[in-house]
Amino acid sequence: MTRKIPKITVVGSLNADLTAYVETLPHPGQTILSHDFKLYPGGKGANQAVAASRLGAMVTMVGCLGSDSYSNLLKDSLANAGVSTSDIITIQDAPTGMAFILVEDSSENEIIVIPGANAKFTPDLFEQIDIEKIKQADALLLQLEIPLESAEKAAKIAHDAGVPVILNPAPMCDLPVEFLQHVDILVPNQTELEKLHDKGFTLEKLYELGIQFVLETRGAQGVLVHKKDSTHHVEAAKVKAIDTVGAGDTFVAAFAVAHSSGVGLLEAVRFANQAAAYSTTRKGAQSSFPKIEELEAIGVKLP
Ligand code: RIB
Repeated sequence: MTRKIPKITVVGSLNADLTAYVETLPHPGQTILSHDFKLYPGGKGANQAVAASRLGAMVTMVGCLGSDSYSNLLKDSLANAGVSTSDIITIQDAPTGMAFILVEDSSENEIIVIPGANAKFTPDLFEQIDIEKIKQADALLLQLEIPLESAEKAAKIAHDAGVPVILNPAPMCDLPVEFLQHVDILVPNQTELEKLHDKGFTLEKLYELGIQFVLETRGAQGVLVHKKDSTHHVEAAKVKAIDTVGAGDTFVAAFAVAHSSGVGLLEAVRFANQAAAYSTTRKGAQSSFPKIEELEAIGVKLP
């Protein structure tokens, strides 16, 4: 049987990741020395686009870059992974988004995002992109590093066209009911889901709004797959992690690729766990994401 190649569109952020590697993360007021520094292409949106493309999907990235040299780093990384970049808009008076990242030797990290051009992605910019790439996709991937109104607009366009919307609500903010009504699959981590619950969005409420599944990612503790009638625990793959930046993005992308190619829910989560774990064994975000052939070489195949 030949597997369908899914078309995935990502509407989201692109950041240059300025990454310092440290023995332990600093306390407030402390000055510490880094033992390594790297500039990597990142941003949750671009990360998910690159990860999905390396795993075999046909991917379009929609987002905003500045007109500085970081924009080339981001565009090149997407293009080298085979992602279509023709719907990326250059904002003349803004810097490309940046992220200051600290990774400690235990693999834990802290991230501060400076939105730059991502914050200029206002809903009127949809006039400059090919909306058909959203309407004809097999899945739309969204995160929350661009203005909320624009993420919501993309969700509505996709939902109205019958395209499944997968929302990774990171970084978490107050989500309007109207936005969540256009989401099919929610992929929060444990903290993000707790914040949603605190705002009154219990699992029951989310199902009432039309969300079909909530995939609660818990790092090395695996994933809780919540459905209306049941919750399943899917264990994380065991690896020696050195850098977990972008592991969540790999999970979302790998799940989207598997699920959009017709793989069942739990099998798609297992595959996504394997891809995410693999990414933690290498440094950086996009630089760490596996190609499908690399997963196959260690016995991990799309079921
Ligand atoms: O999810 C990891 C990403 O978060 C980094 O690449 C950084 O740019 C921030 O967006």
